[in-house]
Amino acid sequence: MKMTDIIARKRDGETLSDEEITFFIDGIVDRSIPDYQSAALLMAIYLNKMKPGETTCLTRCMMASGDQIDLSAIPGTKVDKHSTGGVGDKTTLVVTPLVAACGIPVVKMSGKGLGHTGGTVDKLEAFAGIRTALNQKNFIRQVKKIGMAVSGQSGNLVPADKQLYALRDVTATVDNRSLIAASIMSKKLASGADAIVLDVKVGNGGFNPTVTAARKLAKTMIRIGQQMDRQTVAVISRMDQPLGRAVGNSLEVIEAIETLKGNGPKDIVDLSMELGIQMLLLSGKFSKKIEAKKMLQQQLKSGAALKMFEKFIKAQGGDLAGITDYKKFPGAKYTLEVVAPKSGWINGLTARTIGLGSMQLGAGRQKKSDAIDLGAGIYLHKKSGEKVKAGEKLATLYTNKKKNLEEVADLILPAWSIGQKRSKPESVVVEVL
Ligand code: URA
Repeated sequence: MKMTDIIARKRDGETLSDEEITFFIDGIVDRSIPDYQSAALLMAIYLNKMKPGETTCLTRCMMASGDQIDLSAIPGTKVDKHSTGGVGDKTTLVVTPLVAACGIPVVKMSGKGLGHTGGTVDKLEAFAGIRTALNQKNFIRQVKKIGMAVSGQSGNLVPADKQLYALRDVTATVDNRSLIAASIMSKKLASGADAIVLDVKVGNGGFNPTVTAARKLAKTMIRIGQQMDRQTVAVISRMDQPLGRAVGNSLEVIEAIETLKGNGPKDIVDLSMELGIQMLLLSGKFSKKIEAKKMLQQQLKSGAALKMFEKFIKAQGGDLAGITDYKKFPGAKYTLEVVAPKSGWINGLTARTIGLGSMQLGAGRQKKSDAIDLGAGIYLHKKSGEKVKAGEKLATLYTNKKKNLEEVADLILPAWSIGQKRSKPESVVVEVL
């Protein structure tokens, strides 16, 4: 088989066979295919798309390209959740202890942030001493002992994705439904959970600009999950504006803890509840949505979810001091306030711009190898649906590198659209598929 023939067939809009897709992924992993040929095929896939069967085959080959975690030693239905990525999305820190407190084993594989979107592994690093790369033995032991674990990818999980993603990133081929679905689902499938709840974002802060696009991506991933015998549901949620008010690692951890203490912003609580309900329903221990919701509300109200969060941070070696004293989290030496240029109603707040601003303050990475500033970020005083007076604070910027402050303030000011009439913000959860 020749790579040039495979590229030519996709270039001409043909359907690749299972053997051709297997040849490509094997060649990516053993490095026998040079990057320029892989990049050419990625662009052909981007332009001519893949059929459902090709996407499933690609996912299966990617999943099998490295280690696959066997979680069968943990009794019960193990559930995982995954977000397609957004700004201010700290729901994993809320929903995983919430669901685990209901007695459902939670096995969460997380990633690092890239570009304007954040990642759970970075947020967890705000806890001094925490281990975010658990090996399989410790991961299983922890879930058996306390009911949950959150870990970054360790070992050799889906090596094909690491290489493909790096190439997609530099060849403008990230944004293709089959490639996104295969990338996400191969990692979820290799991570070993029995049930997967996908949080598919719609809006400028994520990949999908429209609900139609989000629905198509969600359906593609659900189909792949079901074909691979994993129960899979998707919640489509809005990412037009950031979730909650905090963007940046320490700031988001504090907001997540406040949510677990019962003081969370409505959008975070609503989305965490919906994701939690779906996880409980997939676990098989609950058959009615109303019962699942009641159970989650009890765990939040009684403080059981916060206790579970503390147990999980402690089990992974993190210092708990920050939970009662937020000053213990990495902070920022410099702050700057962004104020409203006029009075009116906030009718929109562009998540992507806030995410890019936060990244420039040091909270995120432009390239995978960039170091991040855990104390950097943006706190939003005003969001959609709220009233503002000229000169009032819209946001506070936090950073440890003074040089970017003014520039970021200028960059993010247009993110707020201020009008004279109030338009009601739409609810964060769009639909469940
Ligand atoms: N997240 C992933 O893991 N892969 C993609 O391709 C997009 C988002």
